[in-house]
Amino acid sequence: MRRRTFLSAVGAAAVTLALGGAALAQETVKIGLILPMTGPFASTGRQIEAAAKLYMQQKGDTVAGKTIQLIVKDDTGVADVTKRLAQELIVNDKIAVMAGFGLTPLALAPAPLATQAKVPQVVMAAATATITEASPFIVRTSFTLPQATVPMADWASQNGIKKVVTLVSDYGPGIDAEKAFTGAFTGKGGQVENLRVPLANPDFSPFLQKVADAKPDALFVFVPSGIGAQFMKQFVERGLDKSGVKLIGPGDVTDDDILNGMGDVALGAITTQHYSAAHDSPENKAFVEAFKKANPNMRPNFMAVGGYDGMHLIYEGLKKTNGQGGQALIDAMKGLSWTSPRGPVSIDPQTRDIVQNIYVRKVERKDGELYNVEFATIPNVKDPVKAAKAN
Ligand code: DHB
Repeated sequence: MRRRTFLSAVGAAAVTLALGGAALAQETVKIGLILPMTGPFASTGRQIEAAAKLYMQQKGDTVAGKTIQLIVKDDTGVADVTKRLAQELIVNDKIAVMAGFGLTPLALAPAPLATQAKVPQVVMAAATATITEASPFIVRTSFTLPQATVPMADWASQNGIKKVVTLVSDYGPGIDAEKAFTGAFTGKGGQVENLRVPLANPDFSPFLQKVADAKPDALFVFVPSGIGAQFMKQFVERGLDKSGVKLIGPGDVTDDDILNGMGDVALGAITTQHYSAAHDSPENKAFVEAFKKANPNMRPNFMAVGGYDGMHLIYEGLKKTNGQGGQALIDAMKGLSWTSPRGPVSIDPQTRDIVQNIYVRKVERKDGELYNVEFATIPNVKDPVKAAKAN
């Protein structure tokens, strides 16, 4: 009798200890951040990693009583590697969310895994319109090329530009940009000729010769983030900077990471996009200052803001689900809205794409640095491809 009392007392103490231990050692929620950290698109990886880490530094690593752990993996810009890393992170590390995805093929490759494993996939960079249709678990905090491009066609047609040559990287986002611009601009009576340049190791010079011969009012360019400097160098070598051909396009070609290095040749380029380091708001001033402080010699570009907002979306989603992942988390993310460094944004609950302002900008020198200076705003723009399908 006495022995039984003793044993049950020990048992109760053991249970208490075990519970205490569990409460002390918080559960971990893992986020797999898969990015091109090396190779030609490493600037995208560097920007997003820096922004994601800044977000965690500012907001802490506890959400809904759980510890957030960020696991960064380098896919080197190769889609098969992205897919293998996603598989390992899901199976071995039991991640709750995968995020990053620097290019369209890298976002598409793991999409079937997101669906099978019910792991939300937060696309922070890739921008081909159809990506969110590849899995009901994909949500995007970057943009779509048609979303950024249609306002460019409107601006061009309203500003005396009649004849345009488009020059785009020959893959998803470039083709999206070409189609969106051509459709909208010819719809307003403009004339367009289309050229496509390979994505890998692009040599722009034969295409730029064609542009010089065609003598358009403007050259519309899409190249992915980080490649604009190579393009601009060849633009100057072909003498196009002195030809009177105006440079226009979505903002990828003049991204804030490389714009300063381009020099005065970039001055006057008109682009349309969702983010500029020069965006005039208290949220953006604080973001740029903190980003530069944490990463000397870097200036945040639109990739950084996609990473920063992606982390915000994950944190706010987890708060709503009390730390649960899976279907509950993706559902919690739908319809969220917040004030980003880029301006007001929300997640369209139907498409899981981001709804945001698109700004018309001009490259200017400000305080000794080159910036995309915003001078007009088109508010609350949805991806026009999906908006047209819905109607
Ligand atoms: C994509 C990549 C970029 O670097 C960019 O600026 C836009 C789109 C992409 O591959 O989707």
